[in-house]
Amino acid sequence: MESQRYILDCDPGHDDAVALLFAAKFLSLVGITTVFGNSTVDNTTRNALAIVESAGLTIPVARGLSAPLTGEIHSGESVHGKTGLDGANLPAPSMPPITGNAPDFIIDSARKLDNLSIIAIGPLTNIATAITEAPDIKDRIGEISIMGGSTTFGNATPAAEFNIYADPEAASIVFASGIHIRMAGLNVTTTFGIARSQVKKLQDADNLLAKEIGGALNYYLQRQTKIYQREFAPIHDVCAVIPYTHRDLIRYADMHVDVECNGTLTRGQTVCDQRGLFAGEGLTTPQPINTAVAIDADGKTIVQHVMASLLSYP
Ligand code: BDR
Ligand code: CA
Repeated sequence: MESQRYILDCDPGHDDAVALLFAAKFLSLVGITTVFGNSTVDNTTRNALAIVESAGLTIPVARGLSAPLTGEIHSGESVHGKTGLDGANLPAPSMPPITGNAPDFIIDSARKLDNLSIIAIGPLTNIATAITEAPDIKDRIGEISIMGGSTTFGNATPAAEFNIYADPEAASIVFASGIHIRMAGLNVTTTFGIARSQVKKLQDADNLLAKEIGGALNYYLQRQTKIYQREFAPIHDVCAVIPYTHRDLIRYADMHVDVECNGTLTRGQTVCDQRGLFAGEGLTTPQPINTAVAIDADGKTIVQHVMASLLSYP
């Protein structure tokens, strides 16, 4: 049997950069697809190429979509800066993205490869577009592991997490697609992160990449402190990779998840039906389970693995 393959759909982005390097260390990545989100798609594509090249990786990068299916673009600049990866000074990439856009890359890969899953750590626009254009690929994708949403509070709004809020219609298509979804949301991803002393360790490292990622995380941590009064840099996006690399470090519960696209106060909220978790006899949950939702994580161990992976690059 062919081993499991993955596409990483991302918008680097500070935690995306960490997740990319972490995923590349452990998994067979057949491609990286970029999307608008933390910055423009020009910036996120340039950042993805720069990270891949600086790490000495040879993973193809496909440029993705530049705006949501519906509605306006919400900028991630307040958290990730003007470039999407402020604080890092990686050499400009020499290699261009591959020919063909991200949705086409996803469609072709799903049709060609058995055992393909997608790790999605930005707005879900590329993936929704791919499955709308080519519904046959829904049966070809094993699972989509998402960083997005929340069982509790949001960050872009009181109710909505940034990746889902950036394109609620796309997220709704993905959650309703019938493909099994794994969701790591803010309820878990904000409970741990890289501490100031660990950021400093990266900045002081001898290897170029760890140093630059350390610089990036230093910027990101300052923003996190300013905006959220956090003393650590959350690594939200790594949580979508962990189930494939260290499967016991995040605990999931099965439930039905829908995306609110209309609410005046709640547009972009992931409505997670958690009633099944507490149900005694007699409470039935009418909607079928479509998502494994992260409810708990061993954050300390995850951070240790992430630090080791960043320090292992040349
Ligand atoms: C998500 O939004 C972005 O800022 C991060 O890269 C992450 O994917 C967290 O809400
Ligand atoms: Ca992201």
